[in-house]
Amino acid sequence: MADAAPTISELPPEPTASGHAAMILVVEDDGAMRMMLREALEEDGYTVEAVGGGRAGIERVKQGGVDLVISDVKMPDLDGLDMLREIKAVTPSPHVITITAFGSIDTAIRAVKLGAFDYITKPFDVDQLILSVQKALDERALRSELARLRDEVQRSYRWGNIIGKSAVMQEMFALIRRLSRSAASVLVTGASGTGKELVAKSLHFNSPRRDRPFVAINCAAIPDTLLESELFGYKRGAFTDARTDRAGLFVEADGGTLFLDEIAELSPALQAKLLRVLQEGEVRPLGAARSQKVDVRVVAATNKDPEENIANGTLRQDLFYRLNVIHIHLPALRDRADDILPLAEHFLAQSAGRAGKDVRAFHEAAKKALLGHSWPGNVRELENVVERAVALVEGPLIRVDDLPPLASAGRDRRAAEAQVADGGDVDPFAAALARGLTLAELERDYIMKVLAAEGGNKTRAAQRLGLDRKTLYRKLEEYAAAGVGGGTASGGNEGER
Ligand SMILES: Nc1ncnc2c1ncn2[C@@H]1O[C@H](COP(=O)(O)OP(=O)(O)OP(=O)(O)O)[C@@H](O)[C@H]1O
Ligand SMILES: [Mg+2]
Repeated sequence: MADAAPTISELPPEPTASGHAAMILVVEDDGAMRMMLREALEEDGYTVEAVGGGRAGIERVKQGGVDLVISDVKMPDLDGLDMLREIKAVTPSPHVITITAFGSIDTAIRAVKLGAFDYITKPFDVDQLILSVQKALDERALRSELARLRDEVQRSYRWGNIIGKSAVMQEMFALIRRLSRSAASVLVTGASGTGKELVAKSLHFNSPRRDRPFVAINCAAIPDTLLESELFGYKRGAFTDARTDRAGLFVEADGGTLFLDEIAELSPALQAKLLRVLQEGEVRPLGAARSQKVDVRVVAATNKDPEENIANGTLRQDLFYRLNVIHIHLPALRDRADDILPLAEHFLAQSAGRAGKDVRAFHEAAKKALLGHSWPGNVRELENVVERAVALVEGPLIRVDDLPPLASAGRDRRAAEAQVADGGDVDPFAAALARGLTLAELERDYIMKVLAAEGGNKTRAAQRLGLDRKTLYRKLEEYAAAGVGGGTASGGNEGER
């Protein structure tokens, strides 16, 4: 195989990311040298432009479209190194190959430090130059290919506005895609802030109904009496306040999608009425003599467990079956940790754009904090945390300090365990109050409790208490001297596991 492969000089020049032959800018004050470089490069199929000095070079680079600069160092108007420095400040900046005089290794080193891709020492062989040009352009092509791939990967982590890298979310994207032509009812379940409404909208906007209305109503937010007329409409005179006809949301959503949020909050009577509408495909406004056909796709949501709601009688089983033709469950964010960073980055870009701030990324430690948090408020909480951080941050990078204190999942769990161990005592001070403890005694009790919870490990106990180890040792010694709190203070290294 290797024998059959063309040699470098037989290969056509590497096309750039935009598909055209690479454009090389030669910056050289010596006319003969400029001509030689131009001819050699053009012979190899590159597009070449040549200028006679550093200033002109910078101007040309700023106009864009330059893939590579080959430049001399010694030039009368502006030194090649100064030009290099300025070119590197242009974005996207082309690679630069610097031509240095024989024996001036210092200049070569400085050029590379300033960001030159390579340097060539005079006198040089043309093949040597072409090889370096090839390398520079290959590297550049690779880099833009990488950027393209990264972009593609990111795009596959999203479906419309929904971001999701985790397996569950990827499956959900596939499901929404498959459902795009269906009018079947969908039940979306998941805790608060997991994205139920977003999914409902996505189902609508990815269906042939997208040009018809998406109407959302929160069943928990409206009293039952109003909800009925809100959903099904009424005729003038149907009740005292009905001065005109009102269409109702089913009619309003005709041809589109009706999103019924918090469906389990609907009264049993309304649930029965809703079921009838779904089965018959028609509504009868209050006070109307006849029913009216409607074509509405219903997406319902609940943040409760529907099985449990059926068991305790708050959700009618027949309505549940009617709605649950397709069930989409959104797990808590902590149970799909793969989504945390893609979501955070998405919200970062969004908030930064809105705020007009150049905030680009999260510092590694900030990422860790985001990943360690238990996210009881799910995606909504993450969105708020990122938005706040973007508002506060001053540089391009979000650091841990820009985030609010995020309880780690482990810490939450430990706190919960401690509470259970305490018999679920909600007010930690009630007992202290009853026992008439002083602040020092309360502190001592708490320190001893934490030490016990950490299995006697003083380093960890100190960390958990927010004390340095010396302070903890000193306190333990005081307690030992006072004859309270056990003799763990002076016992040397026990517990240092
Ligand atoms: N996968 C996701 N990708 C991008 N944004 C998301 C995602 N999930 C949720 N969000 C955003 O998080 C916020 C909360 O989502 P949404 O309102 O859909 O949650 P919900 O499940 O309906 O919550 P609740 O039960 O409290 O009404 C919204 O701003 C939404 O755009
Ligand atoms: Mg919602």
